Amino acid sequence: MELYEQGSINIWSDPYIRKQLLLAHLNANSDAASRKPETISATIDWMLKDSAPGAFIDWGCGPGLYSNEISARGWDVLGVDINEESVKYAEKKASEKTLSARYAVGSYLDQLSFGKFDIAACIYCDFGALKPNDRAAFLENVKNNLGEGGTFVFDVFGEQVCAGKTEGRNWLREEAKNFWCESPCYVLTECEHFKEQSVWGDKYVVIPDSGEPFSTVIWTHYFTVEAISTLLSDFGFEMTETNQNLVQNGEFISSDVIFIRAAVSGS
Ligand SMILES: C[S@@+](CC[C@H](N)C(=O)[O-])C[C@H]1O[C@@H](n2cnc3c(N)ncnc32)[C@H](O)[C@@H]1O
Repeated sequence: MELYEQGSINIWSDPYIRKQLLLAHLNANSDAASRKPETISATIDWMLKDSAPGAFIDWGCGPGLYSNEISARGWDVLGVDINEESVKYAEKKASEKTLSARYAVGSYLDQLSFGKFDIAACIYCDFGALKPNDRAAFLENVKNNLGEGGTFVFDVFGEQVCAGKTEGRNWLREEAKNFWCESPCYVLTECEHFKEQSVWGDKYVVIPDSGEPFSTVIWTHYFTVEAISTLLSDFGFEMTETNQNLVQNGEFISSDVIFIRAAVSGS
């Protein structure tokens, strides 16, 4: 696998796979896609502590598990996500609960102007999935939508993520209506550790019995507190707080997660 090679599809916007991802988000017994309800609740408590309700933007909000709860706590919330299925679900739940939370379908890599927010969040290690070139676009977006004194909260995997991953190649046969496609298929997997860049690449090549083959690569960067602090300062942010105790029993990939609060430097 080439470092930062791109697959032929994006799992979060592919019309079939995004539906499977919504199901994974909503499985309260699993940490895949979204964390378990007790971890989500503890994370929200930490994100909002010491702040009076204001304006909150949730970048990569998924099905609104955080956004709708934050809205219920009196915040004016906007959730943004590339997965239309998840956004529709989040909107439906907000409407059922008569919450004011609003949602938008969009990519946080495009420059989007939604106004000025007191807190911007991006939760579940999405930041570490970005290729270095995409970090600038994302952080510019975060900065442009933050009000005076606003903060950015996000999480990244720590170095222990390596303990749960193994390099290698494998294949499996999937029955019809699996995670990847309607058709039965073969899935070829490849996992590689690029130590110099502190990133793991997981490549999936899907060969359906009927339909065209396609591929996707998921990049998982890991960081030390020092590394993320330096990276943030390179992009004009200052780390103000970290918390490594919110994910107690992560069963998906790793429970070594660093939550970070940062402010725009000099604000
Ligand atoms: C691991 S999930 C986390 C979802 C949510 N934050 C949670 O923890 O429940 C990552 C989310 O980021 C979204 N996403 C991925 N790439 C995106 C992009 N370029 N722009 C906006 N959202 C994106 C996905 O659709 C997905 O909902």
